[in-house]
Amino acid sequence: MPPALLQIGALHHEPQALLDARYDVRHWPGDAAARPAWLAANGAGIEGLVTTGGLGVPPGLVEALPDLRIVAINGVGFDRVDLAAMRARDIRVSNTPDVLTDDVADLAIALMLNCFRRLPAAERHVRDGVWPRGEVPLARRASGLRYGIVGLGRIGQAIARRLSGFGGSIAYSSPTRRPHLGHAYHETLVSLAQASDVLFVAAAASAATAHMIDREVIEALGPNGVLVNIARGSVVDEAALEEALRDGRLGGAGLDVFAEEPVVPEGLRELPNVALAPHVGSATHETRAAMGALVVENLDSFFGGRELLTPVV
Ligand code: 8YV
Repeated sequence: MPPALLQIGALHHEPQALLDARYDVRHWPGDAAARPAWLAANGAGIEGLVTTGGLGVPPGLVEALPDLRIVAINGVGFDRVDLAAMRARDIRVSNTPDVLTDDVADLAIALMLNCFRRLPAAERHVRDGVWPRGEVPLARRASGLRYGIVGLGRIGQAIARRLSGFGGSIAYSSPTRRPHLGHAYHETLVSLAQASDVLFVAAAASAATAHMIDREVIEALGPNGVLVNIARGSVVDEAALEEALRDGRLGGAGLDVFAEEPVVPEGLRELPNVALAPHVGSATHETRAAMGALVVENLDSFFGGRELLTPVV
């Protein structure tokens, strides 16, 4: 009998086919109101949970899965998984680091370019047939600036590697100092923001980093500064961000992640100095196929009695 899994987050179709072939994959009802009854009837016997970074382990779910032994996240972020609760029940957790690093870093650079060069507006100008009636307003140069990176982990370092081709300078703030990379270290986010024209947020979300990009940091970045967030919405005080962008206390923002995804406040959506994306940092065929493959490999290792490839817990 293949192990029974509850799958609450989608995988790319290639690894999905592997998952379906190797496991007894179950899906709960699409209607959230019907889930408690479904879990009560079907929860026993489910040994694995397949979820995404954004969904994590929703509140109450672990309690409804008495036989759960592993949570496989199709994503690098585990901020929506209560790791202490997993440890307490001896439930293992895996994620998908590394395979998505380059795509997420690419998107950070794209959002920066969209903010400075206003490419979405420029494209609309052509598509809407407005070009014959006049030029688009001039934009701003994105190269040769002072770049700051909050969180110099895998993704932060990949952003830095890309920025090294842009001229300018790179500074960072991070729990771990990385002097061998040769970037200037800042003890506080305010000092980093003061010394940056563009501030990239690449920090892992947690209780400790919630709203770490607060009003003070945003104001330190200033009226010509641009904030790029490809990490998690929770890391930024979104209300303070929106206010600063509206009042001109912050120059612009490039955002792939939001506090209450997929709902993005209308105030943010209306602002012309914001470049927006619907959490697509890892959303390429190549990366999602690799992420899904890693989810399946972690499950295969676990149920085969081997070490997890990319363990969180
Ligand atoms: C995805 C992510 O949105 O890796 C993460 O933590 O947020 C993204 O890669 C998601 O997990 C896709 O399933």
